[in-house]
Amino acid sequence: MSEPLLEFRGVSVDYGPSRALSDVSLTLDAGHVVCLLGGNASGKSTTMKTILGLVRPAAGSVHLDGADITKWSTPRRVQAGLASVPEARRVFPEMTVEDNLLTGAYTRRDRAVRATLDEVYTFFPRLRERRRQLAGTMSGGEQQMLAFGRALMSRPRLICMDEPTMGLAPIVVERVLEHISRISQELGVSVFLVEQNAELALQVADRGYVLRTGEIAVAGTARELLANPGVREAYLGGGGAAGAGDAALDPIALADGIRPGDEPTTRPDPRRAHD
Ligand SMILES: Nc1ncnc2c1ncn2[C@@H]1O[C@H](COP(=O)(O)OP(=O)(O)OP(=O)(O)O)[C@@H](O)[C@H]1O
Ligand SMILES: [Mg+2]
Repeated sequence: MSEPLLEFRGVSVDYGPSRALSDVSLTLDAGHVVCLLGGNASGKSTTMKTILGLVRPAAGSVHLDGADITKWSTPRRVQAGLASVPEARRVFPEMTVEDNLLTGAYTRRDRAVRATLDEVYTFFPRLRERRRQLAGTMSGGEQQMLAFGRALMSRPRLICMDEPTMGLAPIVVERVLEHISRISQELGVSVFLVEQNAELALQVADRGYVLRTGEIAVAGTARELLANPGVREAYLGGGGAAGAGDAALDPIALADGIRPGDEPTTRPDPRRAHD
């Protein structure tokens, strides 16, 4: 059996005295889309930051192709094929589309950057059309496409995406998910997809994990998660009314990790926001 591309073995992460991830084990096979679901503050972004080396585990290890990369710096991980699309599709608004794309190749030492740019333009023709436009003037969906294109410029093997559909109108959300599918199927690039919208994420994912206050509550194929009553109840709007009781919501709480005294979230509702 071949090694998974990425593996967490019993990873725990602390922020000072508080534990954000607890004994998390997960695997991602080459070419797959794996989605990580979970409520607010359940540890999704922390998991992504741990893959990228932006936070360090207090326990456990992270493996790429079987090699222990737990102590590797972020640039070294990028060199080895990891890339990210950060939350809120941060692009450089005052730079052109093309200059934004070129920033994605900054770690590359080869001379084929122009060729990759051409590949990205072929994959996303809209970006070629708009290459001289300032990124900040593009629509939300176009900025997301640009953020994907920039990640592809490093010729990654795995792209980590933190809530790429956040704040986008439903029609645009569908297009973003199509792009994610194409990135894995046509380019063979694996995707680690952090999402709150389970319904959408499971449509494009091969496997999924559900985090609940820093622990893996459910793991399985996308099909298994879609059929899981707990997942349906908490994330897919299936079954009884809200407040049907703790038993109905367990083991996946809807308001996962939100504790009294937490700041109210200012997150826009992706189902209501417009592009
Ligand atoms: N830099 C930090 N310092 C201290 N605590 C942090 C830090 N980053 C995250 N946390 C805490 O770790 C927990 C997990 O946060 P994380 O951002 O991973 O959750 P999330 O699942 O991505 O949430 P959301 O859905 O709101 O994006 C939260 O309780 C959060 O407050
Ligand atoms: Mg997050």
